[in-house]
Amino acid sequence: MCGIVGYVGKNQAPSILLNGLEKLEYRGYDSAGIAVHDGVNINFLKAKGRLENLKKLYEENPITGTLGIGHTRWATHGAPSDVNAHPHVSDDNIIGVVHNGIIENYMEIKEELLAKGYNFKSETDTETVTYLIDDNYKNGMSFEDAVFSAVDRIEGAYAFGIICRDEPGKLIAVRKGAPLIIGKGEGENFIASDIPAILHHTREVYFLEDNEIAVITENTVDIYNKDRQPVHRDIFHVTWDIEAAEKNGFAHFMLKEIHEQPRIVRETILKRMPEDKNFVDLDDIKLGKEELDNIDRIYIVACGTAYYAGLVGKYLIEKICRIPVVSDVASEFRYKDPILDERTLLIVVSQSGETADTLEALRIAKKHNARVLAIVNAVGSSIAREADDVFYILAGPEIAVASTKAYSAQVAAMYILTAHIALTLGKISEKEFEEIRDEMYQLPSKIEYILQKENEEKRLAAKYKDVHNVFYIGRGLDYMVSQEGSLKLKEIAYLHSEAYAAGELKHGPIAMIDDNSLVIAIATQNDIIEKTISNIKEVRARGAKTIVITMEGNKMINSEVADDIFYIPKTLDILAPVLANIPNQLFAYYVALNLGTDIDKPRNLAKSVTVE
Ligand code: G6P
Repeated sequence: MCGIVGYVGKNQAPSILLNGLEKLEYRGYDSAGIAVHDGVNINFLKAKGRLENLKKLYEENPITGTLGIGHTRWATHGAPSDVNAHPHVSDDNIIGVVHNGIIENYMEIKEELLAKGYNFKSETDTETVTYLIDDNYKNGMSFEDAVFSAVDRIEGAYAFGIICRDEPGKLIAVRKGAPLIIGKGEGENFIASDIPAILHHTREVYFLEDNEIAVITENTVDIYNKDRQPVHRDIFHVTWDIEAAEKNGFAHFMLKEIHEQPRIVRETILKRMPEDKNFVDLDDIKLGKEELDNIDRIYIVACGTAYYAGLVGKYLIEKICRIPVVSDVASEFRYKDPILDERTLLIVVSQSGETADTLEALRIAKKHNARVLAIVNAVGSSIAREADDVFYILAGPEIAVASTKAYSAQVAAMYILTAHIALTLGKISEKEFEEIRDEMYQLPSKIEYILQKENEEKRLAAKYKDVHNVFYIGRGLDYMVSQEGSLKLKEIAYLHSEAYAAGELKHGPIAMIDDNSLVIAIATQNDIIEKTISNIKEVRARGAKTIVITMEGNKMINSEVADDIFYIPKTLDILAPVLANIPNQLFAYYVALNLGTDIDKPRNLAKSVTVE
């Protein structure tokens, strides 16, 4: 959460910072600010609300300079306001700081600084760090030492960009537990929370590691560890294009990302299941027979949409590989003293690779010598770097806060892993493997086919635009899909929706059903479809309107059961989730569009949740 950008070079910093912040707004967007050094002094602008407000303020009060830092905020300490917005600049504009993360011991440091006469203007934890560095500096330390010493004092998770009035050509970057990269240019350098913010300027990137501090000028990047020893870092060359992070004519990033799914699922599958091999090519992921024989427990841990993708994985691994799997949300897992040892495999799933709870779950597992496999989208992210093995999904940058394409690729990764484990352990024959694989190859064109029926979902969204309560129901894998469908509607349409295992409705939730309710039932699992149909009839009998998502050719779903039917193409039951989820994405999108919400940046949310 929160986006940081910084620049030092010969060009004007403000426009570079503002453009960079635009690409980081997905990380937080309740206020924004920039601080720029004009060669003599630090000037800064801050504005509550979207980046637009800051841009307007800048047009009215332009500031100039070739060194600067910028920030887009997702509030943790103190409500969104001009004064709580970053950068936080000390009196006489000596030190300016932008921060992503949380300082856990800020209260105790604040007490000390108050006693020294510092006058706090904001409610943020960040202001404490600004004054701590300022105090060190006034006590005679160099700018660098003032930062090193402050970092020794503070606890928590953070990434900082820091400038000093008396150092007009120097930018300091600090990282612990929140992402920060350095972009290397020609006669200019950048810092940012994420690659898209600097991709217009450079493709050469250093990933800063935890507990490292970088001192950056227009021609130099010096990275130090916490013992102040210089460290060498190789350059990472970014291969993807900026277009991947732009809307390309779609009204929203979310819609563009929904439409990217056929390609992404195809690439993710073909990379690991090439047509010329009748086994899964996990490449350098060490999960062969020997490793698998040494595993007697699997956990799949994640947050949000990634957690729901994990649920599909749990279901498949248990059903097909017959290995017990526990799925958990990372914020619970990390505090429940889970049973972990060297015979445990922890699979963490994360689009961003930076989610604080998921990262901590990984660290706990590693402390107990468990093996960690990460299914991640963001290359070089913290989770990717700390896991024993990484299974990269090939989704490219996902900008919309509500995750769509990453989910599909994560579910594809679950199919691939399941097929691999099952084949390696002899739970399926080569023939069965080929049957699953060949059907997986069909998934991209089947997603394409569903996307061609987008107008049907548009029509349904218009038809049901006034509903206030939506229930998603299903059994088995359909229940897993229901949960993700319900989350999507909550996230972007702010509509009350719940997902229930269809058989559980009668134990309470059915009391809420009346003729103002909409029930979206997923009915793709042939072995239990009759049971699901009974449940749909039960809610219909109580006045609910029903949309049923089922496979083509299913005659059991008819107008007696459903007010509306959305057909997905036929596939193997185990592969249905990736298809059945697409109509739910489109429905949520068009409901939100009708309601006029901010689809790509829904209220109160952030794309990358780097706080607990
Ligand atoms: C946030 C995002 C969700 C995402 C979740 C987990 O809540 O808004 O879209 O699913 O974090 O993020 P991760 O990056 O770990 O997949």
